[in-house]
Amino acid sequence: MSSNGRLTATQSEQSETIWVEKYRPRELDEIVAHDEIRGTLRRLIAERTLPHLLFYGPPGTGKTTAILACAREMFGAQFKTMVLELNASDDRGIDVVREQIKTFASTRHIYALKAGIKLVILDEADAMTSAAQAALRRIMEKYTSNIRFCLICNYANKIIPAIQSRCTRFRFQPVPVAQMIQRLEYIADREGVPVDRAAFDALARIAQGDMRRAIYLMQSTFLASASARVTEDGVYANAGMPSPADLHAIAQILLYDPFAQAFCKISEIKKGKGFALLDMIHGLHEAVMLMELSPKVKAFLFEQLANMEWRLVSATSERIQLAALVGIFRLAASMIDDSESGMDPKAAAAVEKLVQGAGYDQTQHG
Ligand SMILES: Nc1ncnc2c1ncn2[C@@H]1O[C@H](COP(=O)(O)OP(=O)(O)O)[C@@H](O)[C@H]1O
Ligand SMILES: [Mg+2]
Repeated sequence: MSSNGRLTATQSEQSETIWVEKYRPRELDEIVAHDEIRGTLRRLIAERTLPHLLFYGPPGTGKTTAILACAREMFGAQFKTMVLELNASDDRGIDVVREQIKTFASTRHIYALKAGIKLVILDEADAMTSAAQAALRRIMEKYTSNIRFCLICNYANKIIPAIQSRCTRFRFQPVPVAQMIQRLEYIADREGVPVDRAAFDALARIAQGDMRRAIYLMQSTFLASASARVTEDGVYANAGMPSPADLHAIAQILLYDPFAQAFCKISEIKKGKGFALLDMIHGLHEAVMLMELSPKVKAFLFEQLANMEWRLVSATSERIQLAALVGIFRLAASMIDDSESGMDPKAAAAVEKLVQGAGYDQTQHG
């Protein structure tokens, strides 16, 4: 579990001071979203028919939390002796895993005889090679009478079919915005930390369904704030992500400034605030969505932004791509009106719309 936390602290320190750990739900009912998964797990536990499990989905959605809560429910105070937690990405390899499972399986515990089964949790199972997974499959087979496995991973398709078919699969979706904010409110309330409404929205927007990221960001913003308050600006600054206000400024420059000037200004903003070009592209994509532009211009911008995203994740030069970004907006502006260079009424209306969408007062164009 400690591999999930980015701050370095001992386990016990973590559970007291790091909100992500402090507010890790201990019971299934405390987990937000995933109603169906919780219902199914609860039934399987009650009927004592727990199969091998495969939990998959994006990070920070509650996979580890859910299986630990199940284990607590099944084993209560015996938790420690009945559960073996392993991390498959541990580079000691499948032989070490095999040995650990063997020892664990053969340790006869009074409670185990009564309860029947023990639980092995194998986190980051998709980090295993197929050869290691094939070995794991044999281990699962061998100990199936007294051990249940819960494999956890991000992508189910990275698990070999022979294992997949032996497991009941549960897909963990990104945590929906409403439930995420509700949980953040609960934590802020318990900690007595004032959090602005817009800051909750910003946290949810940046986290993209990753609850760990949202909680972590809320705490780090709070720790970094001079006013002991979590604000929208604080959240964006802490995440190093462009805020709606930043995007507004950037969009204005892109739409109105001549090429060389736009390039310099945006370079400066990017450097000064430490933005990644990829985050700016994602933000601009949302911004363009809100703009009142002709379908043709919008389609052009979307396609170009998508190409740019693709190029950026293939590790091309940010400087060259930034110039390309300025270029595509210059082209879009000329598509809007190729007779005037700057203050085209349609472009002005588009910016106004963007400003309204972002919830900011309009300032004069630079
Ligand atoms: N569904 C959820 N409900 C409440 N808290 C959650 C949920 N998902 C994640 N969290 C929070 O995020 C942290 C990390 O969750 P975890 O279960 O480890 O995610 P992962 O899906 O990556 O295994 C937890 O300690 C908890 O604070
Ligand atoms: Mg996990």
